[in-house]
Amino acid sequence: MTNHPPHSAFGRFPDTRLRRTRMQGWCRDLVAEHSLTPADLIWPVFIQEGTATESPVASMPGVSRITLDNLVKSAKSANKLGIKTMALFPLIKEELKSPYGDEALFPENLVCRAIREIKNAVPDMGVIADVALDPYTSHGQDGVVENGHIMNDLTIEILCKQALVQAQAGCDIVAPSDMMDGRIGAIRNALESEKHSDTLILAYSAKYASSLYGPFRDAVDSARLLGKADKRTYQMNPANSDEAMREIALDIAEGADMVMVKPGIAYLDIVQRAASSFPVPVFAYQVSGEYAMIKAAAQNGWIDGDAVMMESLLSFKRAGARAILTYAALDVAKQLNG
Ligand code: PBG
Repeated sequence: MTNHPPHSAFGRFPDTRLRRTRMQGWCRDLVAEHSLTPADLIWPVFIQEGTATESPVASMPGVSRITLDNLVKSAKSANKLGIKTMALFPLIKEELKSPYGDEALFPENLVCRAIREIKNAVPDMGVIADVALDPYTSHGQDGVVENGHIMNDLTIEILCKQALVQAQAGCDIVAPSDMMDGRIGAIRNALESEKHSDTLILAYSAKYASSLYGPFRDAVDSARLLGKADKRTYQMNPANSDEAMREIALDIAEGADMVMVKPGIAYLDIVQRAASSFPVPVFAYQVSGEYAMIKAAAQNGWIDGDAVMMESLLSFKRAGARAILTYAALDVAKQLNG
């Protein structure tokens, strides 16, 4: 990309008219540098207890928390549409939330049951589970808190157990989204020592302290518990780019199979830099706030929501993302399949 000779070496107007390749649809397709397919999409799904019910997430039009019976049906539809992977996020009942997030370690918790059901019903669907405590803690932080501090090493001990419980339930990819230092290596060792050497780790390596996670925090009911607290002592400062490269380098060295940049659209420079700097698959997350902004503007008739969604996701691919997490995965796959 950067090693081309000067542009004049490729010709001048009128010999060169770039509009020629844009004149007809077939030719635009022929010369397209990037494309989006259903196999590029990872579908994040919110799950809740119960049967045959769903509760809409008000700040995410079109997204509901679903029960496990419907989850299995959804996994089958997603699979038919060509979506290869789903990511699970649980709504944990308030009475099960605690300061240390103990429910995260319970082998029969909502996420573990969901993993088993999907893997039973649709074995070739890849399943990702988040490794982080925020859906489980009574304070809404991703780590445990003592004397007002998020405790790094103590949190890692718990995260290792959480990852193991998920791997034992059959989870294909564990995805630490907590941003504690050193957690990838610790989780990799824990998996290795318990004979889960095939479990993949998708590291949320460059995860920024973003205000775009608001609707997600509504969905897992952590916004209310967090109150005015923030996550800036562990999630990255949006001002930084070099630091993201250091995070990614560490996570690769510690045993990550893939790395994630999050949020997406405002961080495409990070996606591009990561993809061109490291020979690992880089994924990007179109987070809840990005989804909500597109949907809200579309509902007002201010933009063409489907077209903007497609343009946004294609931009992730252009920046170098190998796969994209998007709440719109089903709709987008339907559109792509015509
Ligand atoms: C929790 C987690 C978050 C998201 C994914 N995993 C929220 C947060 O860090 O506060 C955000 C996803 C989204 O906004 O769509 N560790």
